[in-house]
Amino acid sequence: MGQLCKDRVCVVTGAGRGIGREHALLLASHGAKIVVNDLGGSMDGEGHESGPAHDVVAEIVAAGGEAVANTDDISSFDGAEKLIRQAVDTFGDLHAVVNNAGILRDRMLTNMTEAEWDAVIKVHLKGTFGPSHFAAAYWRDRSKAGDSVDGRIINTSSPSGIYGNIGQTNYGAAKAGIAAFTIIASMELARYGVTVNAIAPAALTRMTENLGMGKVDDEMKEKLSPKWIAPLICWLASPESASVTGRVFDITGMEIAVAEGWHKGPTAPARHDPEELGPLVLDLVSQARPNADMFGHDKTDG
Ligand SMILES: NC(=O)c1ccc[n+]([C@@H]2O[C@H](COP(=O)([O-])OP(=O)(O)OC[C@H]3O[C@@H](n4cnc5c(N)ncnc54)[C@H](O)[C@@H]3O)[C@@H](O)[C@H]2O)c1
Repeated sequence: MGQLCKDRVCVVTGAGRGIGREHALLLASHGAKIVVNDLGGSMDGEGHESGPAHDVVAEIVAAGGEAVANTDDISSFDGAEKLIRQAVDTFGDLHAVVNNAGILRDRMLTNMTEAEWDAVIKVHLKGTFGPSHFAAAYWRDRSKAGDSVDGRIINTSSPSGIYGNIGQTNYGAAKAGIAAFTIIASMELARYGVTVNAIAPAALTRMTENLGMGKVDDEMKEKLSPKWIAPLICWLASPESASVTGRVFDITGMEIAVAEGWHKGPTAPARHDPEELGPLVLDLVSQARPNADMFGHDKTDG
């Protein structure tokens, strides 16, 4: 057992399966006390079963760790508040919130229904806002009371959000929103001793096995195991990461990279006549780097 997160109280949403389950297991093996949240729905967010959260708690406890289950829906404001309160009431403090829960309802824009749009935006974007809001308010109150705070919010974006992926306007928009949320929240919460970072992972889970990733060989399956995402979460949740905030990390079992955000590219003085502006826009676009491909590389990299 490591000691990186000894006695740190960590909430992990969507920790009953996939990537979140690995976060919870590794954090617990490094001494963290975990609230394992999972409402136990299907991949598209339907249904509810308490099993996955309790199973992960049982695994942690069997290995000698400390954990409790929570089955609230983190995309409801009430559920988010109850989750954060449960962490503080059970373990007496809060150090890290890992916003990981997610669903998929992929569809081309032309066919996407209002319900598919709303469900994905709600679980990812509001499901990141709610737990972060209640945790941040707790840390602000502690900080204003003169207590020393060393808080962490770790969000889950996606390559789809920061680079783009066809068929995912709902999911990618939510994940891009989470990356922007991360940067802004990091600016707001620095004064209270709280860092805010995000990961954009890729791993083989039920979410990706039907997207072609399930067809890879055994060696690649091992490389794409969700267990390789957890070490970054464990370090980010620990006191060691205090100097890192407002970052989005692109991470798989094979590589870790800092995803660099939007920067102002080629620039020219403004024109007020649209006919004059057109050629200038074409010239600026020809000088600008193309958007990255879906792996974050320049399309010209080959
Ligand atoms: N697997 C990948 O390659 C990949 C890539 C990019 C981003 N992500 C993101 O990583 C996160 C984890 O994905 P995964 O691949 O482990 O998927 P998964 O389906 O295996 O696990 C997600 C878990 O979240 C839970 N959940 C869903 N809605 C919830 C809610 N409202 N409240 C509480 N729990 C809820 C589900 O029950 C499920 O157990 C998601 O945010 C996903 O978008 C995954």
